[in-house]
Amino acid sequence: MACGCGCSEGKTPKGSYFITTPIYYVNAQPHLGTAYSTVVADVQARFRRLDGYDTFFLTGLDEHGQKVADSAAAHDMTPQEWCDSMVPAFKELWQELEISNDDFIRTTQERHERSVQHFWEVLKERGYIYKGNYEGWYCVPDETFFTETDVRHANEDYEEKGETPVCPDCRRPLVRISEQSWFFKLSEFQEPLLKMYANNPNFLEPEIRRNEVVSFIEGGLKDLSVTRTTFDWGIPLPFDTDHVTYVWFDALINYLTAVGYGDPEAADTFAYRWPAQTHIVGKDITRFHCVIWPAMLMAAGLPVPEHVLAHGFLLVKNPVTGKGEKMSKSRGNAIAPREVINLLGVEGYRYYFMVDVAHGTDGAISFDRMAQVYNTDLANRWGNLVSRTLNMCAKYFDGKTPARGCDFAQRPSVLRDRAQGIYERYATQMANFSYGDAAAVVMELVSEANNYIETAKPFSLAKDPEKAEELAFVMWSLVEAIRIAAIFLSPFIPQASAEVLRRIGENPQITCTLEEASEWGLFGGDTPVEKGEALFPRLDESMLPHTAE
Ligand code: MSP
Repeated sequence: MACGCGCSEGKTPKGSYFITTPIYYVNAQPHLGTAYSTVVADVQARFRRLDGYDTFFLTGLDEHGQKVADSAAAHDMTPQEWCDSMVPAFKELWQELEISNDDFIRTTQERHERSVQHFWEVLKERGYIYKGNYEGWYCVPDETFFTETDVRHANEDYEEKGETPVCPDCRRPLVRISEQSWFFKLSEFQEPLLKMYANNPNFLEPEIRRNEVVSFIEGGLKDLSVTRTTFDWGIPLPFDTDHVTYVWFDALINYLTAVGYGDPEAADTFAYRWPAQTHIVGKDITRFHCVIWPAMLMAAGLPVPEHVLAHGFLLVKNPVTGKGEKMSKSRGNAIAPREVINLLGVEGYRYYFMVDVAHGTDGAISFDRMAQVYNTDLANRWGNLVSRTLNMCAKYFDGKTPARGCDFAQRPSVLRDRAQGIYERYATQMANFSYGDAAAVVMELVSEANNYIETAKPFSLAKDPEKAEELAFVMWSLVEAIRIAAIFLSPFIPQASAEVLRRIGENPQITCTLEEASEWGLFGGDTPVEKGEALFPRLDESMLPHTAE
């Protein structure tokens, strides 16, 4: 089938765009927080593909480490059995949420073991590791080492009180570790990292995270213990098999593995794909991605990624204090993705989290707000425009869209004015991850089209046979605005957009670039129209769950 928008088929690649999510621990089911990182990356990946980039979108699972081994033991399984049993929950949720990843990496895969071992060899050869003894505190749930100073800061007089100190971040009990370990010479990278931050002001966004990380680096860096011996669920060092790789060291390398690192047969792919353009991470894991990871890459003689976007946490209102608090299973305030999908549908879910929850800061979420955004944008504005327009087409043009008259594309109209220039405004916001502002650009066109129905009054024109040509122009313009809006909304609501394109007789698969698709006047018309059911039925108060308000 030819591309619906009538442009030349086939994209003009703007080059490689490699985007990643964090790889998720398999110790628990995916939740709204992990799904959030994944959808943020998916929307960007879909946008980049449509914008002509040769996109590679990676997600996957972090399967090693003490936390995963403990969960396996608690379930009476071997760690590998436990990991295997957790994979379907992630894959199924990503499929349901229309996640368009190109690869799914698991750190227990052989390709990853090979890549991590290759990385070890390179670091050894370049002199950035040495063997020593580690004695200190470790947080198993966070898989993080803490210095005595950090621990004392968060646990006043814990020794005198005879208490086990708790993690400075998650406040869960720490464990004392004393073992032989290989160390990574992180301390040698203070200056190179500061220089990198000075030269790449956009390396880490938002600015607040960048400032935090830079002042952390300025405070001085200590060498990092990066192997474990008292514990074996990890990747063994090729030259010292009593040691397994520290889980974060192992996990970060996944980004290299997926594009062929250490595989002589994939050397071209690796050269083409690396460095990654964007890592999406939560603000809790910036130190790993923005201090340790670039230092590891520099040590291995590899370029650092172009950009790290650190999003905030999803917050829910505490019913007692009225304050927003981080949503998490341990606090018992987590909303399951299923609850939101049941309420909003997958399209509404994606739209709400991407458009209403700002990515840089923490975002308070509530069912009331979800219903409000869904009703305003999707049911009242978008759904309504589509259904009114298609109903009128079906009625006035015998089940079809009107054919494009010879001057329709050039004839001045408010919709034409609004649609022109939409690409530049939208693409700038999308590339900055300002999804709310990007969607607002499209919603302006949608609102303009709804107003146009009121001002151009096709329902009155239809009563006067002398106005037939004007009626055809008005209706054609409305369908053209719908075609363009559907394409620009597709990174957020891919299925609903495909459905709208199908209902106006276009190819639901968008095969041209956004820039090409947005050109006003490409819609030829005279296509069969399908009225179909309401795309976004309105929600009312009685449908809202009231558990997590
Ligand atoms: N396995 C590591 C990442 C290794 S990447 C080389 C990890 N996994 S995680 O499963 O614990 O968390 C993954 C992501 O989910 C993090 O980016 C984290 O910020 C995000 N979220 C977890 N809870 C969250 C919220 N309540 N809100 C938004 N995102 C949060 O860390």
